[in-house]
Amino acid sequence: MKKTFRTILAAVVALAGTVTAKADEGMWLPSLISQRIADMQEKGFRLDADDIYNINQASLKDAVVLFGRGCTGELVSGEGLLLTNHHCGYSQIQQHSSVEHDYLRDGFWAMSRDEELPNKGLSVSFLDRMEDVTSVILNGYDPNMTEEERVALVKKNSSALIEETTKAGNGLRATVEALYYGNQYFLFVYREYNDVRLVGAPPSSIGKFGGDTDNWMWPRHTGDFSMFRIYADKDNNPAPYSKDNVPYKPKKFFRISTAGVQEGDFTFIYGFPGSTKEYMHSEGVRYIEELGDPHKIALRTLRLDIMNRHQGQSQKVRIQYSSKNANVSNAWKKWQGEVKGIRKMKTVATKQEYEKAFASWAKGTEYEGLIEKIAALYEELEPYAFATDYYSETVRTIELANFAMSMARLFVIKDDVMSFDKTRAAELAESFYKDWYQPIDQESFAAVMTQYEKNVPEEFKPAYYKAQMEKYGNAQAWADDMFGTSLFTDKAKVSELTAEDKDQVFADPAFVFFNEFLKWYSADVQPQTTRLNRELDLAYRDYMRGQMDFAEATDGPAGREAFYPDANLTLRVAYGHIKGYSPADGVYYTPSSTIKGIMEKDNPDIFDYNIPQRLRDIYAQKDYGRWADASGEVPVCFIATNHTTGGNSGSPVINADGDLIGLNFDRVWEGTMSDIVFDPEICRNIALDVRYVLFTIEKIGGAEYLFNEMVFAE
Ligand code: ARG
Ligand code: ASP
Repeated sequence: MKKTFRTILAAVVALAGTVTAKADEGMWLPSLISQRIADMQEKGFRLDADDIYNINQASLKDAVVLFGRGCTGELVSGEGLLLTNHHCGYSQIQQHSSVEHDYLRDGFWAMSRDEELPNKGLSVSFLDRMEDVTSVILNGYDPNMTEEERVALVKKNSSALIEETTKAGNGLRATVEALYYGNQYFLFVYREYNDVRLVGAPPSSIGKFGGDTDNWMWPRHTGDFSMFRIYADKDNNPAPYSKDNVPYKPKKFFRISTAGVQEGDFTFIYGFPGSTKEYMHSEGVRYIEELGDPHKIALRTLRLDIMNRHQGQSQKVRIQYSSKNANVSNAWKKWQGEVKGIRKMKTVATKQEYEKAFASWAKGTEYEGLIEKIAALYEELEPYAFATDYYSETVRTIELANFAMSMARLFVIKDDVMSFDKTRAAELAESFYKDWYQPIDQESFAAVMTQYEKNVPEEFKPAYYKAQMEKYGNAQAWADDMFGTSLFTDKAKVSELTAEDKDQVFADPAFVFFNEFLKWYSADVQPQTTRLNRELDLAYRDYMRGQMDFAEATDGPAGREAFYPDANLTLRVAYGHIKGYSPADGVYYTPSSTIKGIMEKDNPDIFDYNIPQRLRDIYAQKDYGRWADASGEVPVCFIATNHTTGGNSGSPVINADGDLIGLNFDRVWEGTMSDIVFDPEICRNIALDVRYVLFTIEKIGGAEYLFNEMVFAE
């Protein structure tokens, strides 16, 4: 008896360590950073918690912005100058590009303020403050409530709080976010600026050097940066674009360190990680590993092959699909690394072991039976999750059908009369046709719907779908007929649409395709996924608390403190150090790369590796100016142990003194499972060395006038 207990305890102690945060794992809330600051300082950080986050005086947080709704940026001058990644500014650079002015290919540099290019729909948000508002949000909660009632209560209390918080207007924006699966709620108050202008971007042959071949990989040589400037009204307040606006004066901006970086140096990343699932049940991970990721990867491979073939044949199509291709390919490649990583770490098995230990500890507590309950919910959810994944990676990717649906939505009945918003229709048509190439869309339809036929179980095939397949025999014939007869393939016809044409639009095959699937999905799938996900939310809320209690029972208070909330696009701090890694037996990767590596990859015959002639000349003459490092080469990228994810792109990489040393933009392929499980031996973030940014601005862009407004650490 005694022996069994000890054995269990030993197992529990050993396993608890596998889920609680280890060295360098974690994305911490800046307002609570005082709880981590001793650890940070022990690892080399020389500033204080107040320097990172302070709502009464300027702190580093005031130099960091949410760029758009999915990247991070940082201020590098007192005049609103901002750095982010090339891939974060990509759609803006593309928007301003045409065959005549191909800024994607050639780069762009404003040589004065009035050459900076305004951008529709781009905003940056500064975090004013964040605050624990759990008691406000759960005010009125009673444990007898159903999950549905709780969701409604949280929604109501959140809206009231947000309204109250933002009533002063002035660009104020607020969100309430659940942390630890709703065990806690935080209010985030932002100031959003909408006049953000493009200042510069290197040519893609630098900014996207290595393209999708090198994406998610180390060693890396990508100059992944672009520059913008934030404008404000004369009182420094947010204002819509106006030529009278003036450069925004930040409370704080980063000093730049050009002293260089070395293995072992302390690094800290300040940014907006999007989403992680570190506390997931083994069954959730198993679904991702065995079904979700593999099928999504296969579908995207088909679409990417089609895009790549057509893009290789025409410069126009290459520009049109550049941004779409990058988006499709990015997750496609990440998922591949993720599956490998999960397998290599045996995450499902490790989690199962942990769950066994948890379950035996949980006996007699409020957590008894929770592990089994979650497993049962996942089992029920699986077919619906698969149907959802398949639907979103097939039907929802057909551009023509999406467009047809958005046009159909412009028919509305007003005072009993059918109306059609022609202005909005013209705008939508403009942006759709600018970047649409029918052969790609049509071939993709045939390819993905062929897979639908093969891989989706009969009970998840809508009646409409079956009738079409009956009629056409195969997806190819269906595609040819749909694209051959839809009015939406014809820009001229679309421009002539009026309220009278409603019946024709609603009978159009592209619209019918989208609409029938949507109706089926809303009726047969979504109610189930919503219900099951609600139940899972509820169970996870308990499981999250349970994991923390379990850790405390095993490791004491330190066990509990090791839990950081999953990422949810709120501001976080991740700290670590510069470090190489071993991706495979017998291989060791050093932590930094230089211009020499660019030259080793340079190949005029391969699109991704064809560098500008100017860079070749600079290399031949070693014309590096002040940007060479001790080895005599220009540093390009480095890797570190910071825990990051999508959304951290563009984040400042900061040294022990709080100065900017780099720009985060990626992770290493072998470590992309870090959204689910972090391996300190393998998981590395990839950053651009700030010296390569400066080198490129000066030597390639000829825009070193920008250095005048920056501040360099001595
Ligand atoms: N992998 C990086 C991140 O997830 C960069 C993506 C952009 N580059 C690309 N080749 N698609 O966003
Ligand atoms: N490249 C990602 C981003 O755009 C960063 C990552 O996933 O590591 O945010």
